[in-house]
Amino acid sequence: MTPPVIPADLAAWLDAHDAEAMAELHAFLRIPSVSARREHAANCAAAAQFVADALARLGFAVAVEPTPGHPIVVGEWRHAAPGAPTVLIYGHYDVQPPEPLALWTSPPFEPAERDGRLYARGSVDDKGQLHLHLRALAAHLAVRGTLPVNVIVVAEGEEEVGSEHLAPFIERERARLACDAVVISDSTMFAPGIPSLLSSLRGMAYVQLDARGPAGDLHSGMYGGAVVNPAMALARLLATFHDADGRVAVDGFYDAVRPFPEAVRAQMRALPFDDAHFMAETGVDALGGEPGYTTLERLWTRPTCEVNGLLAGYTGEGAKTVLPAAAMAKVSCRLVPDQDPDAIVALLRAHVARHVPPGVTVEVTALHGGRPWRAELRGPIVDAGRRALHAAFGREPVITGEGGSIPVVGDFERLLGAPVLLMGFGLPGENAHAPDEWISVDNYRRGTRAAAALLDEYARAHAGAG
Ligand code: BES
Ligand code: MN
Ligand code: MN
Repeated sequence: MTPPVIPADLAAWLDAHDAEAMAELHAFLRIPSVSARREHAANCAAAAQFVADALARLGFAVAVEPTPGHPIVVGEWRHAAPGAPTVLIYGHYDVQPPEPLALWTSPPFEPAERDGRLYARGSVDDKGQLHLHLRALAAHLAVRGTLPVNVIVVAEGEEEVGSEHLAPFIERERARLACDAVVISDSTMFAPGIPSLLSSLRGMAYVQLDARGPAGDLHSGMYGGAVVNPAMALARLLATFHDADGRVAVDGFYDAVRPFPEAVRAQMRALPFDDAHFMAETGVDALGGEPGYTTLERLWTRPTCEVNGLLAGYTGEGAKTVLPAAAMAKVSCRLVPDQDPDAIVALLRAHVARHVPPGVTVEVTALHGGRPWRAELRGPIVDAGRRALHAAFGREPVITGEGGSIPVVGDFERLLGAPVLLMGFGLPGENAHAPDEWISVDNYRRGTRAAAALLDEYARAHAGAG
C-alpha cells in the first residue's frame, strides 16, 4: 500500500488559516475553566459556550446541556452521504487548578509561545487537543462544503473531577449519541516524532480517609504517650497498604487483575524506553515499585495505591507541641482490567477496618471512580487512525499503554457499543496538571492534519469493511 498522505486540499487550507487557528486557540485558553472550583462555574459555562459557538459557526446543530455540575456540549452534523458512518469526537473543556501560581513562568491563562511551545493551563490537557479536531472539521467544511462522515462532538466540563454526570447523560441520550466509532485526543505520544495509538488506560478508585481521636486538639506534653495520636495512627495505617517489596497488601486487591497478553507485553518491551531518561525527566535518583515488572509495565499494566495528600496537626512556621484531634489522607488506586472501582473501595474499607488501631476511628469516603480500559486495536477506525497518523508524522504509529485515566472511555464503549480510538498529541514532559503546562505547536499542527485525514480514511475504511 502506498504511504498515506494528508489530502492536499485540506493541508493547503490549514496552512493558509494557521494564524486564525492559533488566535482561536489562545482565546479558548484564556478562559479559566477550572472545574474543581465553584467560583469558576461561570468560566466553565463560558468555555462550554465557546465550544458551542465554534461548532455553530461550522454549521453544527448545537445544544449546551445543563447538568448538576458543568454543562455538556453536543454538536451534531448529519449531512454525510447515505451509508456514511458516524464518528463521535469527545474532549473536555475543563482544566486542572493552576496552583501553585508562583511556579508559572507566564500566567496560566495568558497563553504565551516560547521556543515552539504554547504555554497555558489546558494547552495540552485538553483544550488544545479538542480544538485541533474543530480545526479539522473547519477545513473539511470550508474546502469541500461537507464532511465525509456524520459527526457528533461531545465536550464535557467535568473530566478533571471524575466525569460524574457524563455516563448518565450518555446512557440517557444513547439514541442521539449512537455512532460507529468514538475518537478521543486527550493523551500523549510515546516520544516526539513517534505517533502513538493507545491500547489501554488505567481506572481509578479514589477515597478520603479521616482519622479521628480525641474530642479536640490536646497539649502533647500533658496527653502525649497516653492518648493515641491520629496522625501517627493514620501513618501506620497507610504503611499497611503495601508490603516491604512494594506490592499492594490490601486483601483481594489483585484478584480481578487479568494479565496483559504476552504479545502486548512484548510490544511494550520493544519500545525504546530508558529508565535513566525517565529518572532525569522526573528528577529522582531511584525508581521503586512492584518487583518483577519493567517501568512501562508498572505504569501501564499494574494497579497502584498512592497517597495523594496528607493533612494533620500543626504545619505552620516553627514548632507547636500539639496532639492533633484528627488527620486526613487522600488515597487513590489506579486500576487495570478487570478491577472494579466499587469492589476496590469495598476492599479498602475492609482493610481499614482490620488495621485501624484502638483509640481512633477512620472514616472512608469514596470520592470518585472509573473503570480501566483495554482495547484490541483492530477494525476500520483503528486502520484509519494508523493511516492518518502515518500521514501526519511520516511514520507508522506505535502502540502504547497509559497509566492515567479517562473514566468515560469504558462507558462510551459499554453504553454505545462503539470502539474508541485514542489518538493523543501530547508529549511526555508537557507538565499536564503542573505549572508551565505546554503543548508543542508542531504537534498541534500535525494533530489538525491527522484529525482531518482521519475522517477521509475512516469513510474509506468503513466502506471497505462494509
Ligand atoms: N488527559 C488526562 C488523562 C491522561 C493523561 C491520559 C495522560 C493519557 C495520558 C485526563 O485529563 C486526566 O487527567 N484524568 C484524570 C482522571 C481522574 C480525575 C479521574 C487522571 O488520570 O488523574
Ligand atoms: Mn485530559
Ligand atoms: Mn487531566
